[in-house]
Amino acid sequence: EQNERDSQFIITDFANKHFQQNLHSHEQGNIGQAYLKERGLSAAIIKKFELGYSLDAWSDLTDAALKAGFKQQYLEATGLAIVKDDKRYDRFRGRVMFPIHNVSGRVVGFGARTLKSNDKKSPKYLNSPESEIYHKSNVLYGLYQARQAMRMQDMCYLVEGYLDVLSLHQGGIDNVVASSGTSLTDGQIKLIGRYTQHITVLYDGDAAGIKASLRGIDLILENGLNVNVVTFPEGEDPDSYIHKVGDTAFKGYVQQQAQDFISFKASLYAADTKDNPVKKAEAIREIVSSIAKIPDSIKRSVFFRSCSLIFDIDEQVLVSEYNKMQLQDR
Ligand code: UTP
Ligand code: MN
Ligand code: MN
Ligand code: MN
Ligand code: MN
Repeated sequence: EQNERDSQFIITDFANKHFQQNLHSHEQGNIGQAYLKERGLSAAIIKKFELGYSLDAWSDLTDAALKAGFKQQYLEATGLAIVKDDKRYDRFRGRVMFPIHNVSGRVVGFGARTLKSNDKKSPKYLNSPESEIYHKSNVLYGLYQARQAMRMQDMCYLVEGYLDVLSLHQGGIDNVVASSGTSLTDGQIKLIGRYTQHITVLYDGDAAGIKASLRGIDLILENGLNVNVVTFPEGEDPDSYIHKVGDTAFKGYVQQQAQDFISFKASLYAADTKDNPVKKAEAIREIVSSIAKIPDSIKRSVFFRSCSLIFDIDEQVLVSEYNKMQLQDR
């Protein structure tokens, strides 16, 4: 209902301003400032992305909102406050706050990072829950700030995390978004598709990142978009890597390392496939299963050709394997 949505937008906007005020003007704000500085973020980026800080207190935001005349009901509906056993308290406490904007620039929710580096008790990131205004599967972190650059450069970099988005922006790469609080969805890819048909996946250099890349590739292909992949050295993510090598070297690395999904999958299995026909066959089948996701038959045939060259295998064999898969899927 419209009134409910409006009220949720208004209180989320209030919270966003409150968290920023905490960061910049409250005495505790210097803790958040110090953390962001340590992460290498500039004042300009902190301002552009409206980063804030939630005080290390039970009900700082709730108290301020109630005092300003907001209803408890909307604090709960947006997940900013939690009620448990008759006790009310702020969901986000002692965390750096990352507001998440929709495409029109209105704040719909927050990501929130703990400042503690190895606290096993509380999660590294907390996210706002789903609400009338925040549907995670249809929101991309950074899209509001990236959309013009995505259109201009006709490409979108897809990263895992908030810090990856921020550090790349700071390094002069503006066309970057992250799927936050959820793994990549069809809705998010369609959202990117409004601005560009080209996605380059820059996920973390770890097993989880590789796995998410494989899943992302198929989802992107299924939605009819084009996908390239850049992998990072073990243990690095785009944020850590751009700080390690610098902006210029990072851009060069991304240019040089970007490969289409066939080369990415081929190199992923390369160690196994060498001199091992069984593994080689598995790798080819894996790639054909990705090609099968592409709705456009001309694009499919271009990729069959490229796959046949890479693996030195007859194109017709790939096509008949594809046909077999189609029959099985029905
Ligand atoms: P990562 O674990 O790669 O974190 O999770 P990161 O972004 O590199 O974080 P830093 O550099 O340590 O600050 C990637 C993304 O997964 C989500 C967040 O959106 C995060 O940015 N995530 C991660 C959560 O939602 N909750 C978590 O506890 C961890
Ligand atoms: Mn930096
Ligand atoms: Mn990771
Ligand atoms: Mn990461
Ligand atoms: Mn990181």
